[in-house]
Amino acid sequence: MYNKSGLLLYICKPDDGGAGVETENGMKEEKKKKIRIGEEKQNKKTETESGYEEIEAALNDPEFVKRQEEAIDFVKKQIDEINERLSRIVGRELIDIVTYRKKTAESVRKKLIRKGHEVNWENARTKLNDLTGIRISCSFQDDVYRLAGKLQKNKKFTLIKTKDYIKKPKASGYQSIHIIVDVLVDQGKDPMRVEIQLRTMAMNYWAKLDHQLCYKKESRDADKIRKELKEYAEEIAKIDEKMLKLRKKIEKI
Ligand code: GTP
Ligand code: MG
Repeated sequence: MYNKSGLLLYICKPDDGGAGVETENGMKEEKKKKIRIGEEKQNKKTETESGYEEIEAALNDPEFVKRQEEAIDFVKKQIDEINERLSRIVGRELIDIVTYRKKTAESVRKKLIRKGHEVNWENARTKLNDLTGIRISCSFQDDVYRLAGKLQKNKKFTLIKTKDYIKKPKASGYQSIHIIVDVLVDQGKDPMRVEIQLRTMAMNYWAKLDHQLCYKKESRDADKIRKELKEYAEEIAKIDEKMLKLRKKIEKI
């Protein structure tokens, strides 16, 4: 039996006599040890699940949902304004699509475990930057940098950090710029943290398919699949570059 963290649970009841007849002290000790481990793991399960329920309740709390939606609206409005200004300057649309997502309790739980944190709301709230996420898909790489630059300089929210996975792609091949900001939605309360991911349409295409195929990455051929996906990320990056060069050539005509 597995709990939500995939931890194998020992399900023998503490008072379970178990199989066989113990005639030696050593075996009795072994049995006691098994029972102790079983109890500890069962306790762990309760801890994890109550933490999970706490996270689920906090994420669905109407006050939190309202603040989260206000933060999303605020950042989207800033993106729209920047996009409008930049589009006027460059004479074409920079953004393909802006989407947002609220992280689910299940995904929060998985990420906390992956990062080695106990599963509870306090850790979710303070250790994760992406409970609220906005994604911008742009036409070209230079547009991604243009927008990222303006967002980083925007004084209407506080810049926490930027991660440039375009200059330095992740081992998987993943490319994007992540900008983490704090948005003050109501005075006197903690700001809301938002992760803004910026990428080109091509990077978005790769990331979405990579995400879709992700469960296969744990299969028998995991290494082969990962290697192939990385190669495709590199191919896509080359096409991105070619498209940008072509656009610049066309602009000169
Ligand atoms: P902090 O934001 O600093 O807390 O770090 P993090 O653990 O969130 O890591 P990271 O900056 O890598 O951001 C994780 C997010 O980036 C994920 O939720 C995905 O949306 C995206 N991401 C990162 N790596 C990959 C990848 O290999 N494939 C895909 N498809 N998406 C990825
Ligand atoms: Mg992140």
